[in-house]
Parts: sequence; C-alpha cells; structure tokens
Amino acid sequence: MVCLGNICRSPLAEGILKTKVNSAVVVDSAGTSGLHSGELPDIRSIEIAKKNHIDITNQRSRKFTPNDFEDFDLIYVMDKSNYENVTKLSTNKEELSKVKIILNECCPDENLEVPDPYYGGEQGFTTVFNMLDDACEVIASKIKT
Ligand code: 4NP
Repeated sequence: MVCLGNICRSPLAEGILKTKVNSAVVVDSAGTSGLHSGELPDIRSIEIAKKNHIDITNQRSRKFTPNDFEDFDLIYVMDKSNYENVTKLSTNKEELSKVKIILNECCPDENLEVPDPYYGGEQGFTTVFNMLDDACEVIASKIKT
C-alpha cells in the first residue's frame, strides 16, 4: 500500500487489509516521499482506525524502495501522482504490471483517487477509511479465490 507520506492513507489501507486476509499474506505500506520516515501514522488515521477496532500504532513510516518490486506481488497506490512516482522506479514490464491504482478494484478503469486528507479535517479521514474499506474487501476476496 503506497501513498505520499505513509502516515495518512497507506497505513489505513495496510491496517484494513490485514483484518480481511489470512496472516500468511504479507501486507505492508510505504510512502514515495520519505518525508515522514520513522514516524507513527497521523493521529487522525490512528483515531479513525481505532473507531473501527483496528490498531495501527505498530506502524512506522518508511520510503518505498525499488526492492519492494521484488518483495511484493501487488503494489496498490492511492492516486495518480503515487502511480507516477512508483512506476518510474520500475525497471521492467513485470514490475510495472504489479502497480495498481487501488480504487480501480471497486471502479475498474476509472482511475479514481483516494484524496489526500492531510491538510483537511477529520471528515476526510472518515471518507478515506470508507473508500479503502470497500477496496480492501475486493482485494481480500480476490486473494482468497
Ligand atoms: P499520505 O498524506 O500521503 O496519505 O500519508 C500526506 C502526509 C503528509 C504530507 C502529504 C500527504 N506532507 O506533505 O507532509
């Protein structure tokens, strides 16, 4: 799960997907910027997760690295800018094809974005949570089949 800072959207996506899949499935998240490396998720993400009985306080922000193409089968990005930032690090077609815009799981081919909630209020985090919950439900059902 990849966003810009790895403190708002992708920590939620990681936490949500982990609740929907077997613990044998490795779920992780990262940010393309590295600006918040080592930090806890944003308090507003922690709070909306907690409200939904998910604890994300074990997570720490890290920067996406080219090694992630080797370590993961699927790389879900939150928006088109993340898509550009991640795909420009890919070195072959196989790596490129691992990168998916997450809301295309719910709305195929529409390239809809999970809005960056960082500069807004708490309502933005609720909206983001609900979008990611829907997308992760589809991802989990695909993984199970
Ligand atoms: P995220 O949100 O990409 O969902 O973690 C952001 C967090 C921090 C910043 C931007 C977006 N920032 O500019 O510091």
